[in-house]
Amino acid sequence: MQESGVRSSVFSDSGSQITLRYFDKVSNPKSIHGIYPYRGKMSALDAAHVISQLPPAAILLDPFCGTGTIVYEAQAHGMKAIGVDNNPLACVIARGKTEPNEVESILDNLSSATCAAQSQDDAPRMPASPAKYFHPDTADQIMRMVQVSTNFSFYLLSALYGAICVAARACNGWLWTSTSTGRINEPLRKIDFYSTLLRKVRKHAEFLNNGPPATIHTHDTRQIHEVVEEESVDIVYSSPPYFDALDYTNYYSKIVLEILDIDRASVRKGLIQRYSTYREDMEQALSAIDRVVHDESLIIFVVGDRKVRGKLIRGSDFFTELAPWDHSRIVEREYTNTASGLWDKINRTQRKEQIVVWDLASGGRKPE
Ligand SMILES: C[S@@+](CC[C@H](N)C(=O)[O-])C[C@H]1O[C@@H](n2cnc3c(N)ncnc32)[C@H](O)[C@@H]1O
Repeated sequence: MQESGVRSSVFSDSGSQITLRYFDKVSNPKSIHGIYPYRGKMSALDAAHVISQLPPAAILLDPFCGTGTIVYEAQAHGMKAIGVDNNPLACVIARGKTEPNEVESILDNLSSATCAAQSQDDAPRMPASPAKYFHPDTADQIMRMVQVSTNFSFYLLSALYGAICVAARACNGWLWTSTSTGRINEPLRKIDFYSTLLRKVRKHAEFLNNGPPATIHTHDTRQIHEVVEEESVDIVYSSPPYFDALDYTNYYSKIVLEILDIDRASVRKGLIQRYSTYREDMEQALSAIDRVVHDESLIIFVVGDRKVRGKLIRGSDFFTELAPWDHSRIVEREYTNTASGLWDKINRTQRKEQIVVWDLASGGRKPE
């Protein structure tokens, strides 16, 4: 068994003390996390606040890492961090935020790629489905850039995919909101994609951190023990997929996946997505996660209430019943200043989100 960084005595206290704060905003524009608008991305301010309460010597795993918000913040805190997600697009962004990089060489590579893109004789045409969102000249520039991106670093790929999303909004007059993404607003504006991409690359590059190397696996967490060593993880911290079947391949990702000619249906198939099988899928994931933690690990899940078929399900109730671990501690709060908070206002609901903490050193596992 690999010796992990810390053991129980360090967290038996921190596990029971973890606090949540209220922030005025959920996102921090001065950060790397705005590089791509991923559906379900968690608040980096929250993640950093929770992580600041954890020992930097610990090995941390996010088994549903998405675009790597938690992995990046753990790395910045000096932790050895591992992320796993079965959505290849999300994993590109997670790697882009966390792989070692030099700003100068990123800018050099972008500059040669832009020259190569501009001087191509014939670029492929953008497929019809995403092309409807872009001015034809912008679509042409995007396809030229995609064509020369085969040897891009993960950071440049992340910026390229994020810039495609920015260009889609800009071509549509910046009118897209979280509820109107994909609505076509004629006439479509012409946007210079090369400068949009350059701005994006520059904007986020200064936040690349040079923390310990992080590892990102594109893998199904229901079999996480195939890529993460058994009993090797000190802390699991994650926001698992939602149980009202949020589609992580939709929204802006649909446009990007179609441009890249990646089959959305096959990506979706590997994700915990359907409400009808959510319970058994999550049970399988939790028991696989149980194999990679040890007897003194700390497990922190950010979950939320969901209204399913008219019935409100409390996220912490669902997870504490399903998890193989005993004696959880729950910190609860209302959604504030988030898209979820807005949804509550419109639907006149008062859902809450919870942090569920299992400290295996003191709580242990449920009897078989
Ligand atoms: C709430 S999101 C996490 C978002 C992440 N915290 C971020 O800030 O980007 C849940 C993630 O679970 C992933 N997921 C769903 N089913 C999965 C599975 N079977 N294996 C691994 N990851 C999965 C989705 O792709 C999605 O990225």
